[in-house]
Amino acid sequence: MITIYHRFNTSFNQLPTCIMALATSFLLFLSFSFWFNALATSHASPTAPFLFPETKATVVPNPRRFFSPHLLSAPLPTNSFFQNFVVGKGEEPEYIHPYLVKTTTSSLSLSYPSRLSNSSLVRQVFVPDLTITSLNKTSPRSIRNTRHRISSFSDLSVTLDLTSSNLRFFLVRGSPFLTFRTISRSTTGLSISTTHPILSFSSTDSLTKHTVKLNNGQTWLFHTSVPLPLTHSTSQITSSDFSGVIRIAILPDSNAKYEAILDKYSPCYPISGHVELTMPFRLEYTWKKKGRGKLLLLAHPLHRRLLSGNNVLAGFKYKSIDGDLVGVIGYSWVLKLKPVPVTWHSIGGIRGKHFPEIVSALQDDVDALNSTTISTSSSYFYGKSIARAARLALIAEEVRFPKAIPLVAKFLRDSIQPWLDGNYGRNGFLYERQWSGLVTKLGSSNSSEDFGFGIYNDHHFHLGYFAYAIAVLAKIDPEWGRQYRPLAYSLMADYMNIGLGSFSYSFYPQVRCFDLWKLHSWAAGLYNFSDGRNQESTSEAVNAYYSAALLGLAYKDNHLKGIGSTLAALEILSAQTWWHVRKGDDMYGKEFTKKNRLVGILWANMRDSKLWFAPAELKACRLGIQVLPISPITEVLFSDADFARDVVEWASPSLSLSGVGESWKDFVYALKGIYNYGSAINSIRKLKVHDDGNSLANLLWWIHSRGG
Ligand SMILES: *[C@@H]1O[C@H](CO)[C@@H](O)[C@H](O)[C@H]1NC(C)=O
Ligand SMILES: *[C@@H]1O[C@H](CO)[C@@H](O)[C@H](O)[C@H]1NC(C)=O
Ligand SMILES: *[C@@H]1O[C@H](CO)[C@@H](O)[C@H](O)[C@H]1NC(C)=O
Repeated sequence: MITIYHRFNTSFNQLPTCIMALATSFLLFLSFSFWFNALATSHASPTAPFLFPETKATVVPNPRRFFSPHLLSAPLPTNSFFQNFVVGKGEEPEYIHPYLVKTTTSSLSLSYPSRLSNSSLVRQVFVPDLTITSLNKTSPRSIRNTRHRISSFSDLSVTLDLTSSNLRFFLVRGSPFLTFRTISRSTTGLSISTTHPILSFSSTDSLTKHTVKLNNGQTWLFHTSVPLPLTHSTSQITSSDFSGVIRIAILPDSNAKYEAILDKYSPCYPISGHVELTMPFRLEYTWKKKGRGKLLLLAHPLHRRLLSGNNVLAGFKYKSIDGDLVGVIGYSWVLKLKPVPVTWHSIGGIRGKHFPEIVSALQDDVDALNSTTISTSSSYFYGKSIARAARLALIAEEVRFPKAIPLVAKFLRDSIQPWLDGNYGRNGFLYERQWSGLVTKLGSSNSSEDFGFGIYNDHHFHLGYFAYAIAVLAKIDPEWGRQYRPLAYSLMADYMNIGLGSFSYSFYPQVRCFDLWKLHSWAAGLYNFSDGRNQESTSEAVNAYYSAALLGLAYKDNHLKGIGSTLAALEILSAQTWWHVRKGDDMYGKEFTKKNRLVGILWANMRDSKLWFAPAELKACRLGIQVLPISPITEVLFSDADFARDVVEWASPSLSLSGVGESWKDFVYALKGIYNYGSAINSIRKLKVHDDGNSLANLLWWIHSRGG
């Protein structure tokens, strides 16, 4: 350990905070070492947590504006389902299924969104159906900051306070009820207003249930924990004296059964939810609840597929851009999924008769490695280059061409080490303390550099490529692997820190990009977007967790392998559920489904056919960004040959468009290889250029491992 710190000490001595970081890491090292020695039974050598040298990022927003002070000492989420509440003005809506929720300084608006869908996009429309605030806003001198406040958050919820209105909202994902209460014991004058005229308003005799019908056809139920007299005008419902808990739910259907269900489950409300991922391919959700009776929440289609147990109220449905949400009873859910194979080499193997063709390409690709240096300093493109090179070593193993391996190992050592040692110069990884994570040297002061890595965009993509290359190097050069293990783990833990058990790093969030409720990652970081977080490339997200699993394989760390495999499997299922658009699907509407076989950018609240870097017409680019990088896990992601055929037939005509560069053919032909080996191999043999993360050797390896 000390020798590695030492390297940093000299190479980063231009950074004044560096010495501090070293001191902190060393203390962490001391305090953790007991645990590591005690718990590292299955590990050859104990891993002490490594902290990259610190820097001050000038491009990140200040988290103090929206997070309660007591939350600031622990890592904060940077790519989460409530990110809009804590960046910019904090006033863009978020999709807390089944409602869009938008907050201002003193009010919170709720929308049960309608959907706009055509051949190019699907989007939910925010309309403030109900807006909740206080009639008598106070601003006691003790509250310096009158903005809305995040007073706590968990894997499955966020608690938002409107301090000046004395209101606290428990925003729990998948709750058919919006639940809120007064913060202090004093009462508040409650106002619930609407942009739609109120057609009727009625209360039960007990004054604990109230029904509002609006002229847009919506019916909303308010359940209150104590009798609450409410008065109304045509656009507002008020109480001069509110204290207690209110739960508000839309009646999604006029069927009387729906109302009876909402009534029955209204007394029990969730306040937070935790996800346990300690065993491979198994997630356990547990909610903290208050009140009495059983908890009712909603599950999205992928939850439903994975849920074990039979507490599903299949007939109780809310609509959603992610597919119908259905009722589930209980404060604990277990989700189980099928294991995915995480292997270094092709899953089914390659016939020996194909080796010579692959070896010949490999020889050229490896020779070329040693006559070039990586010209880019971008953390993304650099990552792709080293992962590309790493593939060559594994292909060499598979086609029994060991001569190439030391050459690749040398290339990898020479190109990876400078980033880990901190002496690359043109760029590097540094630790940023406000949001607790890695930033790149270039990204820390310019949010356009490294695709916004400095504002926490795309971490799993960039670091996933590094993790891949490091895993391979640790495999082929175990001595190097041992030496760099603490850095390898720290790099990966920036995006996947969950379930590392005693190896979890207190200086990173549990997961940075992965959404434990939605079950896929978000790439967008600290930026306000009107449609919430987004992710474009699911295949690069899969690569990130697959690579984490490979690190586990390289270090004989079964636990890491299991957790990485689990997130990879979930990312694959999510891609297949929400990005892959099958002909018979009805999730996104007829027109969208007819024109699109793949979603371009998936937003929390929108599905777009465009890409960040290309218009919707360039379908081959859309195909490519959902396939790259090609590796053994690609077979699992595209396990459905009929779907692969549909995607290729849909995208192929665009190959002749001028905006589609030659290198996108790599991925079209790769997918074609799944169902038409002969045609694909002929096309591939004619290719002159390849994507910068791909190579001829890799393409031939892929095609020949498809059969033939
Ligand atoms: C988004 O953030 C930018 C930068 O902080 C800010 O200028 C803008 O007003 C924000 N927009 C909204 C709607 O919050
Ligand atoms: C789809 O709807 C969006 C938003 O209203 C609009 O901008 C776009 O032009 C529409 N596309 C088509 C093909 O109709
Ligand atoms: C920030 O980075 C972008 C992308 O590399 C570059 O075009 C721009 O000039 C940079 N801005 C500054 C102020 O350096």
